[in-house]
Amino acid sequence: MDAEFPDEGTIRAAIALALRAPSVHNSQPWRWRMGDRTVHLYIDPKVVLHHTDPDGRDLMLSCGTALNHFKVAMAGLGWRARTHRFPNPADPEHIAAIELDRHVASEQDIAMAGAIPRRRTDRRHYSSWPVPIGHIALMASRAAQEGVVLYRAEALTHLERAVAAAAAEHAKDSDYQTELRVWSGRRGSLDGVPATNTSAPDGTSRMPSRTFANPLLQQPRGVQPSEDAAELLVLATPSDDTISRLRAGEATSAVLLTATSLGLATCPLTEPLELPDTRAAIVSEVLGDSGFPQMILRIGWAPSTAEPLAASPRHGVTEMIDSLDGAVTGRRREVVR
Ligand SMILES: Cc1cc2nc3c(=O)[nH]c(=O)nc-3n(C[C@H](O)[C@H](O)[C@H](O)COP(=O)(O)O)c2cc1C
Repeated sequence: MDAEFPDEGTIRAAIALALRAPSVHNSQPWRWRMGDRTVHLYIDPKVVLHHTDPDGRDLMLSCGTALNHFKVAMAGLGWRARTHRFPNPADPEHIAAIELDRHVASEQDIAMAGAIPRRRTDRRHYSSWPVPIGHIALMASRAAQEGVVLYRAEALTHLERAVAAAAAEHAKDSDYQTELRVWSGRRGSLDGVPATNTSAPDGTSRMPSRTFANPLLQQPRGVQPSEDAAELLVLATPSDDTISRLRAGEATSAVLLTATSLGLATCPLTEPLELPDTRAAIVSEVLGDSGFPQMILRIGWAPSTAEPLAASPRHGVTEMIDSLDGAVTGRRREVVR
């Protein structure tokens, strides 16, 4: 074994953890390649959500969550990642080249890596227990390390209005609805949103979720939705270029894993950021006209009556790693939508 570079088993273990990263509609729009001295992350060009994500923001955020998950996993395994984002200007699908140096995993590294398999997108009502301000400050500092500002939405009504307006706009868009139906309500599929992880809208939620197909998840017993004390956190960047979106995805991962390590439940929400009008409303009403909102995170305590959520499925690690020259080595998934 080369002591200056992790062996293949270690890298595969970290990629397996990176595959647990959240992605829009669980589309997993990434590919990995292993070199002798570097690990590479690419966009999977076959995965495109034309009607949900016309400008590719959610795709770039999703690749950012995978990149951060990989770095967190490697740090927990005793390797520090040095990341070169978009290392090849001629290839916009080449998201990152990652070099690795030995380091001693800290308690924080291990806690963050340990949160990866436990994190879930929990779309149910949360309890009435408030999220301590110190927890929010910690999440903000982890986002700041990625160059991203975390705003705590104080006037929730503005955001709630934007979420509801986006849902109403999308309800009139038959192409969006068809795409959402294709990508959700899944059973036994390795991608898409499983039916078991979404709940039917009951008109009581403070934040209406996307209207996923065939929702089967029950709300926890004995919970008053009106008492749901979830915090809404907005991640924003100073500019809106591709690298800012990638960094916002990295910050999303860092905040979600921090929250999970603290025992909090989390749910990403991007529907109001996918439409120009509701996004503009969030810029003026929530961010005070400064910065570009990239992600909304609903964070709170799951009620004690909430059943554990099943992990949503993923494609396997062998399938998601190509050889360095880009030849497909695993059984490459066919994405036909
Ligand atoms: C960029 C991005 C946007 C997302 N948008 C939403 C959303 O608007 N509503 C929602 O319920 N989940 C959203 N999610 C969560 C994904 O649906 C979820 O990560 C995926 O289904 C996998 O499930 P898991 O997070 O439990 O592993 C989003 C995730 C990402 C990374």
